[in-house]
Amino acid sequence: MKISVMGTGYVGMVSGACLAAKGHEVTCVDIDKEKIANINKAVPPIYEKGLDDLLKNHIGKNLIATDDLYNAVLDTELSLIAVGTPFDGEHIDLSYIKEVSRQIGEVLKEKKDYHVIVVKSTVVPGTSDEVVLPILESASGKKAGVDFGVGMNPEFLREGEAIDDFMNPDRIVLGGIDKKTHHVLREVYSPFKNVTIIETNNKTAEMIKYTSNSLLATMISFSNEIGNLCATLGNIDVTDVMRGVHLDKRLSPILDDGTRITPSFTTYIEAGCGFGGSCFPKDVKALIAYGKQSGEPMNLLSSVITVNKSQPQKILDLLGKHFSSFDKLKIGILGLAFKPETDDMRESPAIPIINELIARGAELKAYDPVAQHEADKIFDSNKISYCDDLSKTIDDTDAVLLLTRWDKFREVPEILARMNKKPIFIDGRRMLDKNAIENYEGIGLNTK
Ligand code: UGA
Repeated sequence: MKISVMGTGYVGMVSGACLAAKGHEVTCVDIDKEKIANINKAVPPIYEKGLDDLLKNHIGKNLIATDDLYNAVLDTELSLIAVGTPFDGEHIDLSYIKEVSRQIGEVLKEKKDYHVIVVKSTVVPGTSDEVVLPILESASGKKAGVDFGVGMNPEFLREGEAIDDFMNPDRIVLGGIDKKTHHVLREVYSPFKNVTIIETNNKTAEMIKYTSNSLLATMISFSNEIGNLCATLGNIDVTDVMRGVHLDKRLSPILDDGTRITPSFTTYIEAGCGFGGSCFPKDVKALIAYGKQSGEPMNLLSSVITVNKSQPQKILDLLGKHFSSFDKLKIGILGLAFKPETDDMRESPAIPIINELIARGAELKAYDPVAQHEADKIFDSNKISYCDDLSKTIDDTDAVLLLTRWDKFREVPEILARMNKKPIFIDGRRMLDKNAIENYEGIGLNTK
């Protein structure tokens, strides 16, 4: 099918490249000419594992980028809206969605064939039907359900695994205003085999997306609250508690042959220094604001945010147990990104922790396998230095803070064992064995 994708950000670029890989003819549309030129040279606009290969294989064949929205809509049967929804800390801003809807509507005015417009950006329930659809109708002078269809197809991509998540989805959610819209959307996803497809209305599709992320964020804050209580009570380690919880057969089912399945969901039921990224904080806050505006108090999700906001402070509290002042304290920071396998620093718990340490006069050095260049844009380079190697970050420090679960950090116990002067080690992700490290402190643990 001929598909146009509006916006070459994270969602748009990954969707466009993957739909091309599945055999569709895809035109990616963006207003940024430089980005378009790069994409057409197979240079990815974002870092995402596997994206460069997809671009190399499909650019110039069944994937192109352009700033010509008019012809892209005219020449395709379906347009995906994947433009950004900037966040003011409470609400998502729909201006780009509205603007691109208006532009598509203008083209529809002149287009004879039936066209389907599908919202792929994460938007609060009701946006596709109550914002996008009326704009399309007024700009085109045509009627939704007669001249064009409107759908909503949320994405469930994890950063770092986005290509694999798109190519091998766990579910496909197709919202649509009518049968015809669903029919066209089913055709888009016909190359995806053995996957459960949910066909529903647009508002439900929008809600599924928010609910999925809210559940995972809730599990993280729940685990952190339990972890904080374990630390307060003492003599309880949250990792032992969670191991006991994970063994509930409803969380890790036992097969007939006695083996267990450990779903990756359980990794969200672990204590740490908090969630971040471009999705969980934004989506949960946007749903809270939207819920409140609609008359629901949203008490539980508000607490999810409250717990998460205070979680970085727990790291500083653990440090404060050992040092009355942080002035001139030599600290090694392990991990800057909000999670491993990405250079994304957005809403990373490392940000408030580092800012506070800088404000209190600590001498900081940091190591992250890929996010250092991003961190450099956030922190004053006179206040923090970056190391190209793990040992150098740990060497000659008073304390070491592990803030991101990079696999590389499994080498830490061995590195520490070789050192004469052992720093205080604070495990913000509870990823290392507490018995393998001297002076170990961790979230959800009270060493007294
Ligand atoms: C999240 C969802 O997992 C995706 O399903 C969704 O499509 C995406 O948001 C989105 O809305 O676009 P992402 O933000 O890339 O994806 O990150 P996750 O891997 O889910 O991590 C989010 C937070 O959970 C991180 O702060 C991370 O540290 C924490 N996390 C992640 C865990 O605590 N445990 C894990 O096993 C994975």
